[in-house]
Amino acid sequence: MPDNHSIPHHIAIVMDGNGRWAKKRFLPRAAGHREGVNAVKSTIEACAKAGVKILTLFAFSSENWKRPKTEVVSLMDLFVASLDKEVKRLVESGVRLQFVGDCKQFNQKLQDKIAEAEQATSANSDFLLNIAANYGGRWDIVQACQTLCKQVTDGKLPVEEITEQKFSEYLSTALLPDPDLLIRTAGEQRISNFLLWQAAYTEFYYTDVFWPDFDEYQLQLALDEYGKRKRKFGLTQEQIEASSDA
Ligand code: IPE
Ligand code: IPE
Ligand code: MG
Repeated sequence: MPDNHSIPHHIAIVMDGNGRWAKKRFLPRAAGHREGVNAVKSTIEACAKAGVKILTLFAFSSENWKRPKTEVVSLMDLFVASLDKEVKRLVESGVRLQFVGDCKQFNQKLQDKIAEAEQATSANSDFLLNIAANYGGRWDIVQACQTLCKQVTDGKLPVEEITEQKFSEYLSTALLPDPDLLIRTAGEQRISNFLLWQAAYTEFYYTDVFWPDFDEYQLQLALDEYGKRKRKFGLTQEQIEASSDA
C-alpha cells in the first residue's frame, strides 16, 4: 500500500491552459506552449527541492493529434527544440528523463532526440521525470492487453497468473509507483485520458491557474492541500490511525 507521507513521492500533472494563457494576451497558441516550457523547468526544480522524487507530465495526449495541423507541428518543433536546449541541464542536475506513450507515431527526428535524451540521462537517479507524449490511458491499457494476450497464446503465461500486479507490469509506467498526487491546471476537472489505471487511489488537486503561470508557489499550495488529505485506500480512519501508531 502506498504510504501516507505528507510529501508526495510521485506527482503527475495535466499541464493545461497554454492556449487560454496566450489568448488572454492576444498571442498565438504556440506562444502559450513556449511559455509552458518555462513552467516545466521551474516545476521540476521546485519538486526536487520539496523532496518529490518522480514527476510525470502530460505533454501531448493521443487525442491532441486532432488539433489544427499548425498547432501539432508547432508542438513537435517545440519538443525537439526543448530537448536540444534542456538535456544538458538535466544531465548535470541528476534528472533521469523517460518518455511514456506511443512515441513510434512521432517523426523520426523527434524519436531520435527522445532516444538520445533518455540515453544521456540514463545514469541519473536523483529525480525521475516522465514525459507522457502521445499518451492515452486507454491506449496504455489496450497495449498492455495485447502484450499479455500474446504471451498467453504463445503459452508463456497461464491466464490465472494475470493479476492486478502482473497487469501493471505491462503498462508503459511498469516500474513506477502510482502517482500520489495529480494536479490539473486551468480549471478543468477531468482526467482527459491520462493515467486511468494508475490514478485509482491518487489524490486530485485542481487549480484555475493556467499552466504557464504555475510556479513554486502554486506547487506549494498543492503540497499544502495534499498534506491535509487523509488517504484511506478503502480502510476506515480508525484502521489508518492504528497502523500509523504501530
Ligand atoms: C495544454 O494546454 C497543452 C497541450 C494540450 C499540448 P492547451 O493547449 O490545452 O490549452 P487550452 O486548454 O486550450 O487553454
Ligand atoms: C490534456 O489537455 C492533455 C494535455 C495536457 C497534454 P487537453 O486540453 O487536451 O484536454 P481536454 O481536451 O480539455 O479534455
Ligand atoms: Mg486544454
